[in-house]
Amino acid sequence: MRNIVIVAIAILLGATWFFTQSKDAPPDQITQTQAPSVTIPELGTDAKIGETFYNAKCAACHGKNGAGSDKGPPFIHKIYEPNHHGDESFQRAAKMGVKSHHWNFGDMPPVAGITRAEVAKIATYIRAIQAANGI
Ligand code: HEC
Repeated sequence: MRNIVIVAIAILLGATWFFTQSKDAPPDQITQTQAPSVTIPELGTDAKIGETFYNAKCAACHGKNGAGSDKGPPFIHKIYEPNHHGDESFQRAAKMGVKSHHWNFGDMPPVAGITRAEVAKIATYIRAIQAANGI
């Protein structure tokens, strides 16, 4: 009788272990689509010029101060830290657009009427805000 109880307990523990193990892992998805709050640093001359271009051409999707919007991702986010998305990725994005791969906003279309020099200033602006927000 005692053996049966021990076996039953063992089976119960085993089953508990099995079901907790096989529980679905949390979806590996980026759920934060907007930066909660953004600290704005003192901007240098280039960053200020970049801000103007950014507000004209990028903010509609990437949000004010890079905080994101319902049309595009925030730049104040770990995945856009400089060593993961270098400044050249800004040039490429503006020129050729971006196929949706990190998020679910859809593709980014190429941005018309912007030069490499302007995009470089936008990158300077974004890097300044990122740095002030620990990215
Ligand atoms: C019409 C909306 C829209 C506009 C306007 C827009 N973007 Fe984007 N952008 C997106 C979306 C959406 C993504 C995310 C794609 C993904 O990874 O899922 C993105 C991604 C990016 C990326 C990441 C590229 C990569 O390699 O993952 C960069 C850099 C970028 N945008 C820069 C810019 C710049 C600079 C401007 C302005 C000149 C701009 N975007 C304007 C929608 C936009």
